[in-house]
Amino acid sequence: MNALIGKSERRVDGRDKVTGRAQYAGDFHLPGQLHGVIVNATIGLGRIRSIDASAVETMPGVVAVISHLNAPRLAYKPHKTFIDPAVGERLHVLQDDRIHFYGQPVAVVVARSLDQAERAARALNIRYDRRQPKVDLRDPSLPVVLPEAMGEEADKSRGDLEQAVPGAVTVDERYEIARENHTPIELHATLAAWTGDRLTLWSKSQFVVNEQAEIAAIFGIDPANVQVISPYVGGAFGTTLRTWPHVTLAALAARMTGQPVKLTLSRKQTFYTTGHRPFTTQRVRLGATPDGRLTHVEHEGTGETSRYEQFAEALVSATSYLYSCPNLRVRYRLQPCDTSTPTYMRGPGEASGIFAIECAMDELAYKLEMDPVELRRLNEPKLDEGSGLPFSSRSLLQCHDVGARSFGWARRSPVPGSMKDGRLLVGWGMASGTYPVWFAPASARARITPAGEFEVEAAASDMGPGTYTSITQVAAEALGVPMSAVKFRLGRSDFPPTPPHGGSMTMASVGSGVRAACQALRAELLALAASSAASPFAGASPGDLHWDAGALMRRGASERLGYARLAALGPPGLMATATGGRSEEAGKYSMHAFGAVFVEVAIDPDVYTMHVRRMVGAYGAGRIVNPRLATSQCIGGMVGGIGMAVMESTVLDKRDGRPVNAHMADYLVPVNLDIGDIQVHFIDEEDPYVNPLGVKGLGEISLVGVAPAIANAIYHATGKRVRHLPIRIENLLHGA
Ligand code: MOS
Repeated sequence: MNALIGKSERRVDGRDKVTGRAQYAGDFHLPGQLHGVIVNATIGLGRIRSIDASAVETMPGVVAVISHLNAPRLAYKPHKTFIDPAVGERLHVLQDDRIHFYGQPVAVVVARSLDQAERAARALNIRYDRRQPKVDLRDPSLPVVLPEAMGEEADKSRGDLEQAVPGAVTVDERYEIARENHTPIELHATLAAWTGDRLTLWSKSQFVVNEQAEIAAIFGIDPANVQVISPYVGGAFGTTLRTWPHVTLAALAARMTGQPVKLTLSRKQTFYTTGHRPFTTQRVRLGATPDGRLTHVEHEGTGETSRYEQFAEALVSATSYLYSCPNLRVRYRLQPCDTSTPTYMRGPGEASGIFAIECAMDELAYKLEMDPVELRRLNEPKLDEGSGLPFSSRSLLQCHDVGARSFGWARRSPVPGSMKDGRLLVGWGMASGTYPVWFAPASARARITPAGEFEVEAAASDMGPGTYTSITQVAAEALGVPMSAVKFRLGRSDFPPTPPHGGSMTMASVGSGVRAACQALRAELLALAASSAASPFAGASPGDLHWDAGALMRRGASERLGYARLAALGPPGLMATATGGRSEEAGKYSMHAFGAVFVEVAIDPDVYTMHVRRMVGAYGAGRIVNPRLATSQCIGGMVGGIGMAVMESTVLDKRDGRPVNAHMADYLVPVNLDIGDIQVHFIDEEDPYVNPLGVKGLGEISLVGVAPAIANAIYHATGKRVRHLPIRIENLLHGA
């Protein structure tokens, strides 16, 4: 038996990535391709009065200027896909003269070269009738609505919040989190080509089968006539879980010009309509007995959405199960405003909601004069008090233990400002994190080639966590062959369908599907070897056969049947297809990953520059398929948490809704100098219920909890409690 799951195998795609052989969406080229450049609205609300394309149409290289004036009316069929993160009516691009938000695409200029298209796009003269958009979420005239799709889930309660507790210690605070954009290194890009009525899209996507379905619905064509190809994704964090308007525009431009069209968003354009983490406001009320037992938890959250769609996330969902508390109420609302629709961004909902809860817990710990780790320990629940179900596994206390020990938490002096390093203020803070274990059936196929290689395929995506590698491990282990004998391919909509590459469920879902397909192929091959007249093992029982070092062997015999010879016994390309499932027992459990983050910040007391010197993350996330990749993924999530805590904020101009810092000079993300030492620990966790592989996922949990740990560390260093993200130098200076 070769146990590959659990081994720190190297990335199978590492060489291709560092040599540039790996092709991202923008790297694909077709002969005769044209270049499309989107023209974006420069008002935040209103109508297009006129578009004068005449001067632009005669500019060098220009092939077409496409706007609502000449674009065909598209079908925009309503459709049900696997996951649609928003309800409402998606933006119908170039279908009428209405402007819903700043930066909405209003035209596409297509030219022979990118340079010509950019120049012409800049010159296009568009006049507008402008109205005043509402984009300031603090504006009291904005409506507040119940998220339709959530219904009662948006209001949950248990116990009696009015119940008085003698001597209760309370916290009642408001928290705010800025709008954030995903800003992956790789820009969104689509190359679209029609052959007759068949469309091929080379497009950055975390969900190729959904992009196929959506584009087919938009154009009113059979999904079988749309092929989406996305072998590599250079970071995404949720921004390509949906199909945004630029994909439609690339396909539309290609159809209208009769040539392949490549369309790449500029960095600035990625701030307009590729989704964003919604601005949120929250209120948290906590009550505890003087000895630290929670008696009341009230958590209200409101997130922004667009006027044409409701985007809802899990802002208050974790509150009901994170700690034990008899009396609890959560409430979630949306605020529609004149902006594009937000979407999932790493740790969607939980990262924001848990920021508020975990900062409030820290405030409570100070009021109780209790260690924050101890406060959490005291409120550890025996079961999920939200659903009433037992946890399939829950290692939050072990995460606290392992994290605290590794960090050296016992040496912390609790008084704010009491820990110093020379003239620098040192702050130590911590927070818990949690994220659900999602699962959805994924299909996969596995075949043996005449050369005796194993090919495994699933639609899937790999936005960087190492899916190519970890799934190859799963496949090789299930087949019983070395990793070098397996080639795993993903990122094509004509491969067996898989759920979105998001919600931390790729290994759980795609891994389970691949495992099932490989087990089925292995069983077929063993049966073939035991039954085929041409097989040296004819007549053997399949149970007596096993793989060993590149060949099939019979127990107690020395004869070897190589993979190529084995393949020759069956029909060419012998293949097995399967869909992964999980045990029905799963429904009887509450299934979540847990984590704890410990942070040290150093702050200059004169100018309040901050440095996150070190972080320790401890995670109970089920089985870890590849510790090296898992550690790397967690480091990435924790770095993202630094961005959320002290840097990232998309600022809108209240006059017109323009994102004013739509570029990497002013939209700050952590760079190497911002990162100190990061340590990652995994708790040994065996969870037989979550899925056949026993994995819980890591993408989101690694970010959840980082921002509150940093905010709590900043308080510990300075005695200043900043209740909004990002926390900037000026917040500490002004609070002085
Ligand atoms: Mo992630 S927000 O599920 O890509």
